[in-house]
Amino acid sequence: MSDDRVYSSVDPTDPGFIACPFPTYERLRAETPVSYVPHGRGFWFVTRHDLVLQVVSDPKTFSSDVRSLAFDEFPPALLQQMAEISRAGVQNVPTLLTADPPVHTRNRRLVSRAFTPRAAKEHEPFMRGVCRELLSKFVPGSTVDFVHDFAVPLPVRVIAEALAVPADRADDFKRWSDAAVALIGSKLSDEEVLRSLREGNELGAFVIEQIQHRRSNPGGDLLSTLTHARLSDDETADLAGDAARQLSDGEIYSIIRQVLVAGNETTTNLLTQMMVRFANEPQWWELMRSDPSVIPAVVEESLRMITPSAVNQRITTRDVELGGVTIPAGENVLVIYLSADHDERVFPEPERFDPTRPNLAEHLAFGRGIHFCVGASLARLEVRVALEELTRAIGSFELADPRHEEWNSTFSLRALRRLPLRVTS
Ligand code: HEM
Repeated sequence: MSDDRVYSSVDPTDPGFIACPFPTYERLRAETPVSYVPHGRGFWFVTRHDLVLQVVSDPKTFSSDVRSLAFDEFPPALLQQMAEISRAGVQNVPTLLTADPPVHTRNRRLVSRAFTPRAAKEHEPFMRGVCRELLSKFVPGSTVDFVHDFAVPLPVRVIAEALAVPADRADDFKRWSDAAVALIGSKLSDEEVLRSLREGNELGAFVIEQIQHRRSNPGGDLLSTLTHARLSDDETADLAGDAARQLSDGEIYSIIRQVLVAGNETTTNLLTQMMVRFANEPQWWELMRSDPSVIPAVVEESLRMITPSAVNQRITTRDVELGGVTIPAGENVLVIYLSADHDERVFPEPERFDPTRPNLAEHLAFGRGIHFCVGASLARLEVRVALEELTRAIGSFELADPRHEEWNSTFSLRALRRLPLRVTS
């Protein structure tokens, strides 16, 4: 096959690109919406809304089982140490995010039972209580770090509550969640990589201990639901060769890790970047304060603008033509949800914040297709409750250090490391 790849000169590690990728994505959408970025192991950027949809609607061609790509950039000596640590822990089998049908289908059916909108709603009073507790230090005249003082602790505490993590393990749980996230796309030293893996093993041991406890003491929490969920005959009928009706301990561990990775930092980043917008455009804050019924639409438009899970990965299982370009089999494809959500063909004037857009539901912040975010109801509720409580507690605020924008080093989960805010009333 001839190699007709269209090269792009984007450097995804460039701090300027991470801080503001929008002009680059606009250019890519217009000129080369499917382009090859020869950076690191090399990957294909898919930037237009229609093409992103094409990729995520075809899991047979664009697989989510990206194990063959995992860690292939690490030096062999480090890989060996990593393998030793991994062997000592619970095996992290592919599930959900990293699985294809039929494994994904079976996982998803079981996991969906734990993530219903009703189950999310049960956590609302807890969410409100945590928000109020965190907001007690947001008094007029104070300066807070919104990331550290609100946006990080809220999702971690909500998920710990949903999993019924005992209070005395809450700090460990936070450390394990951070370790799980740290391995995704950040530049870590060898020692940090090894430490994250060891902490992953601690999380594994904890999850297995908790599962065993719940086998004989079922409760109403998410881990109990995952432990006891069973597929019926009807539900397993189309899953030939995959007769297991229950999730194994290793699968539950893998799912919990994914929930921590996919759920915590995304929610933190959404909340943080929303506050930057409201500091710069205070009319939205005033509107939410005077009419809280606009909050759900503000959340949706913020999801579109910010798209915290900016980039997700697929691997081609065959040569495929996409947007007039042929991508060979076995290549690493990045679906850039953030760019799709700023596609001017779908969202006119994409850089304008407008919660009244008629087609807000078309945003891809939670993905689309079989991997659509299983925690979307929980995340939407959590962010709505957070905004209700924030706008109730804070009359007005400003950026305490407007020139200071310190972004992390990964373009796939863009995050501000800190956000100093001054509460003015
Ligand atoms: C604002 C917050 C969130 C955002 C923006 C977000 C975004 C996403 C996106 C884009 C995907 C699809 C990935 C792909 O196409 O490969 C996804 C999947 C997933 N999300 Fe979320 N997520 C959020 C919150 C949560 C929460 C709170 C949880 C759990 C408590 C969660 C759990 C998951 C899981 C388990 C998957 C994999 C689903 C599957 O593969 O079937 N997410 N999320």
